[in-house]
Amino acid sequence: MKNTERNHLHQIDNSGLEPLSNHSQNSSFQDVLLQRQIGRRQFLCGALATAVSAFMAPAFSALGKKERLGFAAIASGKDDTIHVPEGYTARPFVPWGTCLYSDHVGDDESLTAADQEQQVGSHHDGMHFFPIDGRSDEGLLVMNHEYVDPPNFHPGGPTLGEHRPAGEVALEMAAHGVSVLHVLRQSDGEWVLQQDSRYNRRITGTTPMEFRGAVRGAEGLRTAYSPDGTKGRGTLNNCSHGVTPWGTYLSAEENWAGYFVNHDQQLPREHSRYGLGTEASRYHWEVSDGGEDIHGRFDVSSRGSTATGDFRNEPSQFGWVVEIDPFDPGREPIKHTALGRMAHEGVIFAPVKEGQPLVCYCGDDARYEYIYKFVSRQPYRAVSAGSHLLEDGDLYVARFNPDGSGEWLRLDASDAAFLARANIAGVMFGDQADLLINTRLAADVAGATKMDRPEWGAIDPDTGHVYFTLTNNVERTEAETDTANPRATNVNGHIIRWLEADGDFAARHFEWDIFLLGGETGTQTPGENSVTLTEDNHFASPDGLWFDSRGILWIQTDMSGSQLSDGPFGNNQMLAADPLTGDLRRFLVGPVGCEITGVTMTPDLRTMFVNVQHPGEGSGPIDVSSHWPDGGTSRPRSATVVVTRQDGGVIGS
Ligand code: FEO
Ligand code: CA
Ligand code: CA
Ligand code: CA
Repeated sequence: MKNTERNHLHQIDNSGLEPLSNHSQNSSFQDVLLQRQIGRRQFLCGALATAVSAFMAPAFSALGKKERLGFAAIASGKDDTIHVPEGYTARPFVPWGTCLYSDHVGDDESLTAADQEQQVGSHHDGMHFFPIDGRSDEGLLVMNHEYVDPPNFHPGGPTLGEHRPAGEVALEMAAHGVSVLHVLRQSDGEWVLQQDSRYNRRITGTTPMEFRGAVRGAEGLRTAYSPDGTKGRGTLNNCSHGVTPWGTYLSAEENWAGYFVNHDQQLPREHSRYGLGTEASRYHWEVSDGGEDIHGRFDVSSRGSTATGDFRNEPSQFGWVVEIDPFDPGREPIKHTALGRMAHEGVIFAPVKEGQPLVCYCGDDARYEYIYKFVSRQPYRAVSAGSHLLEDGDLYVARFNPDGSGEWLRLDASDAAFLARANIAGVMFGDQADLLINTRLAADVAGATKMDRPEWGAIDPDTGHVYFTLTNNVERTEAETDTANPRATNVNGHIIRWLEADGDFAARHFEWDIFLLGGETGTQTPGENSVTLTEDNHFASPDGLWFDSRGILWIQTDMSGSQLSDGPFGNNQMLAADPLTGDLRRFLVGPVGCEITGVTMTPDLRTMFVNVQHPGEGSGPIDVSSHWPDGGTSRPRSATVVVTRQDGGVIGS
């Protein structure tokens, strides 16, 4: 830090944790007891109680089937490098600062926001390869840039004090958002960024956007910038993503609440239920010395006589899912409100069926938050599918019953059953827009199950099981455990999964079980034929999750702090699981301090792209713990890694 004077400013907090803000009593022990009394099935109870219902396949369903994973598991480790199995190559690609245009040269020492807007952003996260004409050697690699680590982002660290220099603030905003990168594989096999391609594009924390869905134009969205509540500026903390059936990219706004501060005596519920701070924001953008409202908007205290005279509603402009058409650089991004407002981790689409509703799932990554499902009002039709399907539909939240059954609870301000519960709780929603702005509160009212930080989801292309990672929750007490979140002080996390009733993704009921518990060697997931973790596959804090087209499940980890430094797991890693055979093997280990997040492949499955986010996290600017990927004394950079097999074969096979 250049300036140790803090005044009213706090240190920058990059813990990656959403503030704990769910103080509702949902799925409390009393609820579980009630459910036990009325449960329609037998179930196990105890600290590791796990629903195992008759319909469900065991965690790994057909032990002894032909192996589909063809690589030898690698060891865990703590090197400041990337490890992949023998016979594989991993090359860093498009690190933070890579120039999108050939006439532009980035210079770290004098980097400006204008420079950064023409470069790959920081903190690579969710990512998808959109092939061009179905090809496996050319496409658009689209990725999120979740946030910045100021100690490693500015040479010498950030300037803190009564005010922050406007240039630093603008630069940090420009490193957030999304990159669209035209990439191709050369004849020598090396992947390159096609500089100057018309597709190359940066979307940042200031890019103009349009709101769609029920909240568009709502009173709660109106600000001095957008008096009619239809426009917004920028997207922030873009974590995981989604890929629509019509070929657009969705970027999920996750830990946005920490970017704001509200100094008012009392916080409105759309601030307090999302954990907004009252002293200073995470990056102190609100005290930028430039005076521009695009910086000052992060102080959301009431100042004007009405909401259109200040930025009290700016926090309601975030927490949405943003649609970007990578093949149409001129199209303004859309913030979709029908999928609710939360710490959106990502969006997972169910396979589409002609004439049936479109279905997708979302996780709200904070301790004790929920898992959601959106079902479109209009049926999916291939010929006309598009954005409109995400503008109108029903939003549901999940309740996991102790007996292995589950229900989707509809969040609808005009639904009689919902209104009855809201009345009892003393919570009112003026209309559906008000409900969607306060999605978490609506889910509290509905009686959803409080989960251990829902992160990514993935759907098994063979069986239709929907899997979700629950990364960890050290706050959960023994009294708060339930069958879906069975461990108190859940430091290692787990993976849950469910099957929708009658194979209908739009169904109101499902059956669930726990697929895998994270932990040290010897950890066993209860259930028939479940795996016991060994040196080849022990892991903690599962986060990224993705099924490739063969049905191999890729699991990525995001351990932090003491779990990384003192735990038995080494650096963050990626594993491959084959639910058909019971195989679970470590495939990749990242450099020091990073998380592994974001994975996609070319259609031929012969190139895999994996993201390495925040190497060296928790250190810097003086004693940096990582110099990846450039080595020497360089500062660490988030980057993509291109993984190929030396014999050109299919990854993982
Ligand atoms: Fe950005 Fe929940 O991870
Ligand atoms: Ca992260
Ligand atoms: Ca994540
Ligand atoms: Ca995480």
